Amino acid sequence: MGILEVKGVNKSFGGLQALNDVNLNVEEGTVHAIIGPNGAGKSTLLNCFIGKLIPDSGTVTFDNESLLGRKPHQINQMGVSRVFQTPEIFSDLTVFENVIIACFAKRDGAFELNALSSVASQTDMQEKAAQMLIDVNMIDKRDEMASSMSRGDKRRLEMAMCLAQDPKLLLLDEPTAGMARADTNNTIDLLKEIQEARGITMAIIEHDMHVVFSLAEKISVLAQGTVIVEDAPENIKGNPKVQEAYLGGAH
Ligand SMILES: Nc1ncnc2c1ncn2[C@@H]1O[C@H](COP(=O)(O)OP(=O)(O)O)[C@@H](O)[C@H]1O
Ligand SMILES: [Mg+2]
Repeated sequence: MGILEVKGVNKSFGGLQALNDVNLNVEEGTVHAIIGPNGAGKSTLLNCFIGKLIPDSGTVTFDNESLLGRKPHQINQMGVSRVFQTPEIFSDLTVFENVIIACFAKRDGAFELNALSSVASQTDMQEKAAQMLIDVNMIDKRDEMASSMSRGDKRRLEMAMCLAQDPKLLLLDEPTAGMARADTNNTIDLLKEIQEARGITMAIIEHDMHVVFSLAEKISVLAQGTVIVEDAPENIKGNPKVQEAYLGGAH
């Protein structure tokens, strides 16, 4: 049994069937990649996990509870956090202040920026925020402006904010998109460190095969809305069905 289970999911947009009987099992404590050519349905599937889309039919459960019909913040409260292509951070605040905000949001819900100075003086918030920065190897940058960080360090900062929510499942939609190789490698190292230290389950959508093969223990290949292969990385590369999906109509 997986911690995230997708069964028989269908989703159409008008006449286009974006997801066609999708089945997927993400095992607890593993990194599971979802790959596939452009337009395969990857983002549509992810959006069904986070309350942005409701499938026409099928089920999506996390820890045996349905994720369907819930609002994004409710899904977050269940222990599901997500990371998108562009890190969601406050550029005009310091690294430390960004993490303070995430710690506060976990404890008290909504956050107002004008409350920052009073929150930042609370010892428990300071301790938690510092620990999160130690965990992502950024404590030496705590007083620098978030806007001055490299893309790799912005991703580290966002992960510190994410970890402050104590997630059980992390959903990542192309976390290295648009990054230079050094920042991509920085992000791969970070995700490996987090996985080793905390064993958080991760489902990652990714087109960069270097990232996929560096991280994933299991790979599902989507093509035209259907999972055509689910297997260990070593069995994916040479699989003719996968090659066919990527070559498409090229032959
Ligand atoms: N909101 C939408 N309305 C209409 N068509 C959509 C919508 N979202 C996605 N699609 C279509 O569904 C298919 C799958 O898209 P998407 O999930 O974004 O693919 P991927 O993320 O794998 O590139 C594509 O053909 C896309 O054009
Ligand atoms: Mg997409």
